[in-house]
Amino acid sequence: MDVEALERAALTAVAAAASSDEIEAVRVEYLGRKSALPLALREVRDAETGRTLNDAKRRIEAAVGERADELERAELDRRLAEERVDVTLPVRAYARGRLHLITQIRREVEDVFLGLGYRVVDGREVESTHYNFDGLNFPAGHPARSHLASLFLDEQTLLRTETSPSQIRTMEGRQPPVYIVSLGRVYRRDTPDATHVPIFHQVEGLAVDEGITLADLKGTLDFLLRKLFGEQRRTEFRTHYFPFTEPSIEAYVSCHVCDGAGCPVCRHSGWIEVGGAGMVDPKLFEFVGYDPERYTGFAFGWGLERIAMLRHEFPDLRELWRNDLRFTRQF
Ligand code: DAH
Repeated sequence: MDVEALERAALTAVAAAASSDEIEAVRVEYLGRKSALPLALREVRDAETGRTLNDAKRRIEAAVGERADELERAELDRRLAEERVDVTLPVRAYARGRLHLITQIRREVEDVFLGLGYRVVDGREVESTHYNFDGLNFPAGHPARSHLASLFLDEQTLLRTETSPSQIRTMEGRQPPVYIVSLGRVYRRDTPDATHVPIFHQVEGLAVDEGITLADLKGTLDFLLRKLFGEQRRTEFRTHYFPFTEPSIEAYVSCHVCDGAGCPVCRHSGWIEVGGAGMVDPKLFEFVGYDPERYTGFAFGWGLERIAMLRHEFPDLRELWRNDLRFTRQF
């Protein structure tokens, strides 16, 4: 056998191999178990021939190995180049959603009270007349009890007209001290117009403890109003009436637009009405089994839509339900 010719042919084939598959074929052809060189080696009888064959085999093996590595590296480089992702390439921008304005305000108010150590509790949107009216000391014949004013499901069941029922449910479930807020939807039988929608949102607050006074209520509402409308705001209480508070007040905040000087937003009065509040009527404590001699409390209930409208000065409440992106995207 012409070992030199075989080696030359093998090395030429190695140099010509252009892919991993081809170099593998060359390896099988010249070094595989049934190829000429290994077969010859198996039959060799003298040391001299054996050494010559072995040397040739080793050189071919080395050449094949080297070429195989080279080809593999080149193939990897090519794949990496082909499959490269240019992460700096601009892509089509996805429109990002956002929270509805009312949800934003709801969370903001919740955060203020969580910061004061209050708990946020859930109420029920479907309520009984017991919790919506009787337990809140609404007298028989109160206009809100009418089917013309409220949305009844049957004689004893209605969509709550205010968040105040959660006061009763909370107090029934636990002993003082109680510091809670409850936010959610309320329903009234109103025809939609610029200042009325039949579904809106309230935040209800309730604090019951020993020694709570009207000054605590004022301090708490001052704090909330400054968080919502700016640190410069002053608050004022005016007497009012609610069945479940005594005394009852209506809270006013100095106008955040003109700072009290008078402008269209505050109807030139310098003050803006924000919502009801008062000291919890001791009758409610009797209903839920609290000792009215020992405990006092304050409560308040405000509309979130009102806060939204005052802050952003949009003229029509119905915008909050239209979901026109040109409106909702502003917030
Ligand atoms: N529930 C009243 C309403 O819807 C608001 C309100 C006033 C709630 C005084 C209170 C409060 O807790 O003390 O008009």
